[in-house]
Amino acid sequence: MYSRIVSTGSYLPEKTLTNHDLERMVDTSDEWIYTRTGIRERHIAADHEFASDLALHASRRAIEAAGIAPRDIGLIVVATTTPDMIFPSTACLLQAKLRIRNCPAFDVQAVCSGFIYGLATADRFMRSGCLQHALVVGTEVYSRILDWSDRATCVLFGDGAGAVVLGRSDAPGIMSSHLHADGSYSRMLSVPGSVCGGKVAGRPFVQMEGNAVFKFAVKALDEVVGEALAANALQKSDIDWLVPHQANIRIIQATARKLGLSMERVVVTVDRHANTSAASIPLALDEAVRDGRVRAGQHVLLEAVGGGFTWGAVLAKW
Ligand code: ACO
Repeated sequence: MYSRIVSTGSYLPEKTLTNHDLERMVDTSDEWIYTRTGIRERHIAADHEFASDLALHASRRAIEAAGIAPRDIGLIVVATTTPDMIFPSTACLLQAKLRIRNCPAFDVQAVCSGFIYGLATADRFMRSGCLQHALVVGTEVYSRILDWSDRATCVLFGDGAGAVVLGRSDAPGIMSSHLHADGSYSRMLSVPGSVCGGKVAGRPFVQMEGNAVFKFAVKALDEVVGEALAANALQKSDIDWLVPHQANIRIIQATARKLGLSMERVVVTVDRHANTSAASIPLALDEAVRDGRVRAGQHVLLEAVGGGFTWGAVLAKW
């Protein structure tokens, strides 16, 4: 028994923030940001919008596209680094907003690899044979954990959510998933704050060693996409679409080069969304499914690397 992605959905907050807007906030330029990262603009959640709200919009769209009702969902997995609160989990809050009860619902925290971790986890639940449908969501409000006076980080991220519905299948939809982590790199990219005694302890903003993250990401992604191909005895040329985590166009181009894929076969949203962490892959996937690029019978490779460090890939047949 297998699972397959039967539908996708996504949501972007209404407000956009362009590189030119950022020029008025910090000492930066559209030219610097675009040439270093490929980013032109990003979406920013309204003050009243939380990760579960963004997730709700994306989930409703995915559920509607699947032709099912929310009550048909048997499992909710939410990948987020920016939960509404410490607890309950964003998955439980989303479940309540979907007005459904009783199905298991939990969050996974693997930062930018969160959606890959969530998809791999839900696939294993589906393969156990007790579920008809699972909802996997990546949702982020990174604008809340950015120091808007730090030009090295605030230009890189955005807010958004994406969702997929998994259904049962006799043939492999999710062909394989490959997850990795190495916590010894935790200081290279982190939000080192916590809540203690009613106060925030430590700095609750994204900090990173940009160059080191870049090098780590390129190497880890190269290895994990090779692993996914080998596990399925596929050649590089068998990949129809690469849907990468959208952190930086230069990281994406490096992975495409290693795969021998032309950029026409790579789904890119980083220019308009920036890095939406766990939401970036389902956002990009939804765009490519809805505009008809991803079609039945094609091989789609999803990959990500993020804080932790965590990294992974999912190979899916559409
Ligand atoms: N605008 C203008 N100048 C800037 C900005 C900015 N927004 N940010 C940094 N600079 C300056 C620096 O101060 C430095 O100035 P100096 O030479 O006078 O000291 C100069 O630009 C070069 O800085 P670097 O950090 O060396 O620039 P680099 O070419 O490495 O690009 C970047 C930085 C874009 C962050 C790159 O390292 C990168 O993309 N790394 C990957 C990080 C990433 O994607 N993180 C996302 C989270 S992890 C993930 O999702 C995989």
